[in-house]
Amino acid sequence: MISKQAAYHELYKSAQTAGQSHIFRDWDALSEIQQQQLLLQIKSIHFNEITNLAQHHIHDDESTHFSGKIEPVHAIPIPKTTEQKLIAQKMCHIGEEALQSGEVGVLLVAGGQGSRLGFDGPKGIFPITPVLQKSLFHLHAEKIKALSVKYRTRLPFYIMTSQANHAATLAFFAKHDYFGLDSADVFFFQQGMLPALDGTGKMIIDAPGHLFMNPNGHGGVLEALAESGALADMQKRGLQHIYYFQVDNVLAKICDPVFLGYHIEAQAEMSSKVVAKRDAYEKVGVIGKIDGKLGVIEYSDLSEQDKTATTDTGELRYNAGSIAIHIIDVAFIQQFAQHDLGLPWHVAHKKIPYLNEDGQLVQPDAPNGYKFEKFIFDALAFVNKSVVMEVDRDEEFSPVKNSTGEDSPQTAQQAMSRLFAKWLRQAGFTIAEPGLPKIEISSLFATDADEFCAKFSGQGKIDSAFYIE
Ligand code: UD1
Repeated sequence: MISKQAAYHELYKSAQTAGQSHIFRDWDALSEIQQQQLLLQIKSIHFNEITNLAQHHIHDDESTHFSGKIEPVHAIPIPKTTEQKLIAQKMCHIGEEALQSGEVGVLLVAGGQGSRLGFDGPKGIFPITPVLQKSLFHLHAEKIKALSVKYRTRLPFYIMTSQANHAATLAFFAKHDYFGLDSADVFFFQQGMLPALDGTGKMIIDAPGHLFMNPNGHGGVLEALAESGALADMQKRGLQHIYYFQVDNVLAKICDPVFLGYHIEAQAEMSSKVVAKRDAYEKVGVIGKIDGKLGVIEYSDLSEQDKTATTDTGELRYNAGSIAIHIIDVAFIQQFAQHDLGLPWHVAHKKIPYLNEDGQLVQPDAPNGYKFEKFIFDALAFVNKSVVMEVDRDEEFSPVKNSTGEDSPQTAQQAMSRLFAKWLRQAGFTIAEPGLPKIEISSLFATDADEFCAKFSGQGKIDSAFYIE
């Protein structure tokens, strides 16, 4: 094992070469543990990458701004005509075959904390379902369990956490006995971190012997899959298609066979689901072409003119709102790992607390630092073939982002109740209106309306909280 002294010298040299030797400025005053922790933090830093970021994203400020030429893309529409419905059925069949033959895995990015929700802890443990208040993790895990029963298959579940929420996420799953999943099929792995930089490109010290670091964005998932052994696990299991989704969408239709079918039929490498935007200002990214390549234009990057631009038929020109659901082929992920195809960095100018020269903590009142993140959807620029499929927002998209108002726990619960009310109506029931009751149907009972109607029908009226499992 390499001694602490040797590690110090080696890392000091790398830091010095990169113009970052100040990160050792308090070394002699640090306790033994603080020294060990600092060495560990510094060891995880790729100094060349940091130098590159400082040169290209701070000194040359222009490059941090979005400046691509954008065009809308064609999405497969929600089936309305008989012909479209027949095609969707055929795709469903193809997707179901892939599920039954064990070619599909599920990937959840859950690196964030519930901070925007005013919640302390991993967002996935936030209680959300309308009646039983099951957590987001419970809700998603139950869907996966139900699908593995339905398709008589194993559906390996890969969950990306971050340093801040890894231990709490593992403990939550263990405490709840993996929500009925086989623990051998649940794989947790952590995304990487990297230091933020100040306006002169220097790393920021935020406590004695500690650097301010942040998670490297959900685009960090590609590297993290390879480094953690999750990619090797996918290959060992013979998985071909990975169904990617975000922890915050309560209506995520995990492993939608129709979407899988379109993706497989098109021999696509990475595909995306979209909804028509609620309005010009909805805070979702838009799938489009950027300088001729497929990608997502974030809401903050879309100009006022492009946000409100309409087509001849009066629809928004950039209307393909990304719901951050993708299918990504294992072979495509492997290409990134093998050929070191880097995703681009996105930069955010933020207020970052720091220790000044006198060792006092300063809370800046204006942005003083730069955080860097990668976004998974930038991988779309590398595809040869891709499918973009439009889906019905009421059936598939209701994210929990804010503590109140739009995209909050309240709107997500209403969306779930509304969807399940529709299933109940289809099964013959009437629902009290106005004042929709809270309705919750566990995926363990039914994963869609047809399955529900086949098991449950009647003529009663639902006028108070309803739950079925
Ligand atoms: C995101 C998308 C947006 C899309 C919208 C749909 C980005 C930049 N934008 O917006 O295009 O329309 O979702 O709801 O992603 N996460 C990690 N690690 C990280 C950062 C995020 O795992 O380092 C995970 C979070 O846990 C969450 C997801 O990624 O599940 C989305 O992150 P968030 O920052 O909430 O994205 P939004 O701004 O809501």
